[in-house]
Amino acid sequence: MVIAIDGTSASGKSTNAKRVARALGCVYVDTGAMYRTLAWYCLKNRVDVQDARAVAALCRKWKAALHCLEADGLRVARLFVDGYFPENEIRTAEVSAAVPHVAAVPKVREWMVKRQRECLQFGSLVMEGRDIGTNVFPETDFKFYLDAKLEERSRRRAADGVRENLAARDQRDSQRAVAPLMVPLGAKVINNSQMTSEQTSGLIIAEIRKRLAEK
Ligand code: DC
Repeated sequence: MVIAIDGTSASGKSTNAKRVARALGCVYVDTGAMYRTLAWYCLKNRVDVQDARAVAALCRKWKAALHCLEADGLRVARLFVDGYFPENEIRTAEVSAAVPHVAAVPKVREWMVKRQRECLQFGSLVMEGRDIGTNVFPETDFKFYLDAKLEERSRRRAADGVRENLAARDQRDSQRAVAPLMVPLGAKVINNSQMTSEQTSGLIIAEIRKRLAEK
């Protein structure tokens, strides 16, 4: 089983995807972290993220591998590069600004989608991102799209101590030529501006249980 959770930046995908994965005993996969890891690796190796050829070349040769491990009482699949997962480094403002460029490179997306599909080897998945329901696992029956008002999303990011231009990042993610952010066909859309994460994840879990019972 694959549960696809897509949506805009800071719409609560991570918090809710983790809650759903915990409740249903699935492996949690943060695909944004995979793109962020490549963006971080480009910056570290002084590769210009606006140079699509250079980014694709680095992606072709970097030594990155998937691992499934236990973290915070949850099974998670993560991409390690040179045996290291840059957990804190990928959350900086520099990486957030660089990542939409990296994520727009077709060869990078091809590489990432292959790895994301390989995560099935670890078991049932809750996978969050921008193109999971449209592109990575379009055949799944469990698709969710999260969104919230821009002011509310900016407030949430600021509460996490991160200031960034979410509108600019969403615009880049929605307007790129390959696998842009959009509502997947058949997805349940949840605008959680006025909802707690308990309510959002509760809604998702209830919907999955309902659909499973109907099968
Ligand atoms: O979810 P996030 O903010 O960590 O994602 C970082 C960036 O990666 C986001 O700006 C868009 C890109 N991304 C993507 O293009 N496709 C995905 N499946 C996940 C993330």
